[in-house]
Amino acid sequence: MTTHETLTPAAPRQRPEHHGTAAPTDGTRAGRGLHIRGLHKVLGGRTIIDDLNLTVGEGELVSLLGPSGCGKTTTLRMIGGFLQPDSGSIEVQGQEVSHLGAEKRPSAMVFQNYALWPHMTVANNVGFPLKLRKLSKAQITERVETVLELVSLLHHKDSKPARISGGEQQRVALARALVQEPKLLLLDEPLSNLDAKLRVKVRDDIRNIQQDLGITTVIVTHDQEEAMSMSDRIAVMNAGRIEQFSTPADLYARPETEFVATFIGSLNRIEGTLSAGTISAGTDVIGIRPEDVTLSVGAFKGSLPATVERVVPRGHFQEVHLRRADARLRSFVTGETPAPGQQVHAAISKAMTFRNGHLIEESGTAQ
Ligand SMILES: Nc1ncnc2c1ncn2[C@@H]1O[C@H](COP(=O)(O)OP(=O)(O)OP(=O)(O)O)[C@@H](O)[C@H]1O
Ligand SMILES: [Mg+2]
Repeated sequence: MTTHETLTPAAPRQRPEHHGTAAPTDGTRAGRGLHIRGLHKVLGGRTIIDDLNLTVGEGELVSLLGPSGCGKTTTLRMIGGFLQPDSGSIEVQGQEVSHLGAEKRPSAMVFQNYALWPHMTVANNVGFPLKLRKLSKAQITERVETVLELVSLLHHKDSKPARISGGEQQRVALARALVQEPKLLLLDEPLSNLDAKLRVKVRDDIRNIQQDLGITTVIVTHDQEEAMSMSDRIAVMNAGRIEQFSTPADLYARPETEFVATFIGSLNRIEGTLSAGTISAGTDVIGIRPEDVTLSVGAFKGSLPATVERVVPRGHFQEVHLRRADARLRSFVTGETPAPGQQVHAAISKAMTFRNGHLIEESGTAQ
């Protein structure tokens, strides 16, 4: 395969208005993407990955999202061939790869601390994997320049890593993976070393390049906003398992568990039962998104009286913290904002009920 066939951006793929609608959730093209079945790993006597199953469609970007220590890096390293699973199968484009070493797999990984060689120029860093594969100098130069152009760094090809910015270094690490023309791109926390502003920029760069090349990609992150903004689908991980796997919009609107509801977006969590303007004690958990809490000065049927405790400016909206004897609530307010100490009435337009961590009921409470 020549450089041009795979690295020249194909005709732009149709970009769905909301990420995720284009994801092949029916698995029609999944045979050519990534298939993980029954992955299991014990480390230090503890089960770290427990019967993990995941299907990523060809050209799809999937994030593994979860709290620190849930097993994201361990999973990615097994996919990339840097760690041997105890059992389970990993298929890339229809080929079983779990018995292959990392260098034999059709995947390339960008590690969290992207470890560029400081004494080498940008071009030599990027070309290094090709040098190992004994490509000719001319071939290496051609491929390196193609990828450097793709990540908008051709003008820095002769710079040393120390002379370029963090975001540029991250893009060099990405180029070093892309130059290998992988069928599967694996990125471990690719934005964690960047400041907030750069994070948004590099995030968009990665997503655009991924879309233009149509490359199947798995990204590990613990940042829900990052996962929401880049992914076709997100696998929410908790303690070595995938808790829910769906599009960002679906995970937000229809979380199946309390863990997912808490991890994706903001959530008011109240222990008890909500009915007719009162909260009664109980073992169920009510989950309410702050945007589903609206405030008014006067009381009305079904409203919950509360006191404004704090108002936090959040840019284009305010986060109002409310307090009652039996609960705390947060409300996102865009219009007129009440002042701390003021008595208000909260109306809840939508609530989820969880029992033993699982969603049992979703209600829009009538007012
Ligand atoms: N070689 C090892 N020996 C023993 N335990 C390990 C080993 N490697 C990882 N672990 C444990 O496995 C668990 C999962 O680790 P992993 O690095 O996959 O987490 P993670 O989800 O990537 O977390 P983070 O967001 O902090 O990077 C952790 O509890 C970790 O301590
Ligand atoms: Mg990790």
